[in-house]
Amino acid sequence: MKKILIAIDGPAGSGKSTTAKLIARKLGYIHLDTGAMYRSVTLKVLESRVNPADEEEVVRLAEEADIVFDNDNGLRVALDGEDVTEKIRSEEVTKNVSLVSSYPGVRKVMVDKQREIGSQKGCVVDGRDIGTVVFPNADLKFFMIADVMERARRRQAELSESGTELPIVKVVHDLKDRDMKDSTRETSPLKKAEDAIEIDTTNLTIEEQVAKILTFVDDLLMMVQEPVVGRRYQEGSVLNRQGKDRK
Ligand code: CDP
Repeated sequence: MKKILIAIDGPAGSGKSTTAKLIARKLGYIHLDTGAMYRSVTLKVLESRVNPADEEEVVRLAEEADIVFDNDNGLRVALDGEDVTEKIRSEEVTKNVSLVSSYPGVRKVMVDKQREIGSQKGCVVDGRDIGTVVFPNADLKFFMIADVMERARRRQAELSESGTELPIVKVVHDLKDRDMKDSTRETSPLKKAEDAIEIDTTNLTIEEQVAKILTFVDDLLMMVQEPVVGRRYQEGSVLNRQGKDRK
């Protein structure tokens, strides 16, 4: 069966990582969480006691970092041989990741690695610049958005599960700050690709957003599996509609 590459971009808390993980599991594909790569470099910077503002040193550490994903156990991430899956979600890493990932040298190293992993088709890649820069020719692109209050509530619950309690106003403030930095940086800012399908997840459950994306995936897979000639031209298929007008 032909395998495709799916790009999912969007701001923090829009649900892209959870969705990407579930879609990948459903299709038997690899899930590539590019945010986890930038977070791993940030952790390395902090643990090496390098100032995150020291671009040259940060880029050197990014070049040295050995980041490996294990897709078989619910996506674990190893940095230089150590499992850092939980550590990269810390407040300290989150606070510094936007600066570290704004450096063109860091992005070059990460993007090369992402393209290498994604060159095997059958991959769901989530991040900020996947549909625009990393894989502009992705077979399907989604851009997930959600109201900032809803995104903050989700992030607060996530933090609470890992033992960190933060007031909602602080979570909203941090999210807005990161959104602003991620979408205004010069290199590869967070931006919707023109041909991406926008999905507003504010009022959707995880199951609903996964189901929604899978309808597009099914359409496309049906299309690439069958010869177009003679196939019933299905109303609403990705064949005859541009995706962006589909809700
Ligand atoms: O999960 P969450 O939405 O908090 O963020 P993430 O996907 O783990 O990404 C963490 C940070 O990495 C983002 O705020 C961006 O600064 C950066 N990032 C990026 O620059 N490019 C990507 N493709 C993915 C993440």
